[in-house]
Amino acid sequence: MRCSACRSLFVASLVAQTLGAASPTTIQLQSRVAPREATLRRRATNPVTLPLQDFFLGTDLQWFGNISVGTPPQNVSVVFDTGSSTLEFASTMCGSSCDSQVKFDYEASSTFVDKDKTTTITFSTGVGVDPVVGDNYQLTLREASDVVTVGGIKAKATTLYLVTKETAKFAIDPFSGIQGMSAQAQGFFAALVKQGLPSIFSLYITPEAVGGAELTIGGIDETKFNGSLTYAPNADQGSSTWSLTSPQIFVNGKTTSTLKKKRDVIFDSGTSNVLFDTTTTEAIYALISPEIKAHASEDGTYGIACSLIPTLPAVIDIGFTDENGKPFNLTIPSSELSVGPFADSPSTCQTLINAFDGLELVGGSLLKQYYSVWDVGAQRIGFAATGK
Ligand SMILES: *[C@@H]1O[C@H](CO)[C@@H](O)[C@H](O)[C@H]1NC(C)=O
Ligand SMILES: *[C@@H]1O[C@H](CO)[C@@H](O)[C@H](O)[C@H]1NC(C)=O
Ligand SMILES: *[C@@H]1O[C@H](CO)[C@@H](O)[C@H](O)[C@H]1NC(C)=O
Ligand SMILES: *[C@@H]1O[C@H](CO)[C@@H](O)[C@H](O)[C@H]1NC(C)=O
Repeated sequence: MRCSACRSLFVASLVAQTLGAASPTTIQLQSRVAPREATLRRRATNPVTLPLQDFFLGTDLQWFGNISVGTPPQNVSVVFDTGSSTLEFASTMCGSSCDSQVKFDYEASSTFVDKDKTTTITFSTGVGVDPVVGDNYQLTLREASDVVTVGGIKAKATTLYLVTKETAKFAIDPFSGIQGMSAQAQGFFAALVKQGLPSIFSLYITPEAVGGAELTIGGIDETKFNGSLTYAPNADQGSSTWSLTSPQIFVNGKTTSTLKKKRDVIFDSGTSNVLFDTTTTEAIYALISPEIKAHASEDGTYGIACSLIPTLPAVIDIGFTDENGKPFNLTIPSSELSVGPFADSPSTCQTLINAFDGLELVGGSLLKQYYSVWDVGAQRIGFAATGK
């Protein structure tokens, strides 16, 4: 299959990150809050954990869960996307273009406020498994506000966007929208932090066979990993983008001068694949197999005969430096190499990395190998091996 839903919001930011091995530092749940107003701190709230469901279509694509919106509350299923900042979802303001999604009924909410402002949002990471061509991943949005409730904690008058029109590519999504989880607390997350919740969230996004995926807001679920978390500083401190600086990449234990180039890699939970510039992409594939070739009908994609995939070692270690200056790797195992057959060539399997000049990004294929902690307050990302 081709992953036509692999994409990420690009509005104001992107995020991505991966983790490798070893360097301890366990955070105390309350110590990261740094609230300005002491009075707010006294009302500290407990962390909230939401179950997540895996959008699986031959491979793991995206993980989504429910928030509730309005009065009385309506469940709205959203992808928690570290690559974007805002909340948007299908609504009854949307015509037939949203018919395959559950629509939020704004007229049934007594707290809904229409801001009467229209905007559009265009996604950019679809080049991966399903390339973005022109505006094929675009939402038309209407600004509004309403109560958002997450795990029983209410965030009043939260800015959100109702989808009023969407392009056909969105139709296969089993969820109604996207909740941005960028490196600056925004939307309901900002409101929860104001109520005393630590400015941190954690993702346990697991392969379909493992299950039990979850998002913890305001804390860390220590039962999901053994050992300690390794933290690395956000490369662009204070921006809304989650990224880490990588000094080098190894493929099956080898590196090259191209792969030793220092680069900032975005950590984006809203996309499944990996993007590197063309030179890097081809340097990585050259170390895996000369049979991996650009797939002409879809710009930026590469593929190889599906029959060859099981024989190929394709371990990609992306090197990073932890907050104490110690190197660690985040590893994408060989099992992630194939993302499934191309629709126009079923015996050719698309490979994980897509060439995209100007953007270097990792997503679910790396993040599902780790428990990840997104520390907004301290501007760092932590990783722990889950032993899956
Ligand atoms: C979200 O809520 C819907 C009903 O509104 C339910 O069917 C679904 O299982 C829930 N999803 C998760 C991941 O809890
Ligand atoms: C809404 O979602 C929550 C969490 O996924 C679930 O427990 C609950 O049953 C859902 N509510 C309804 C009305 O389906
Ligand atoms: C942690 O290690 C113990 C003992 O090896 C094992 O039973 C348990 O499943 C591990 N937990 C996780 C979350 O990996
Ligand atoms: C990262 O991976 C490379 C290649 O497998 C290895 O040589 C290196 O020792 C690893 N670095 C760390 C810190 O584990």
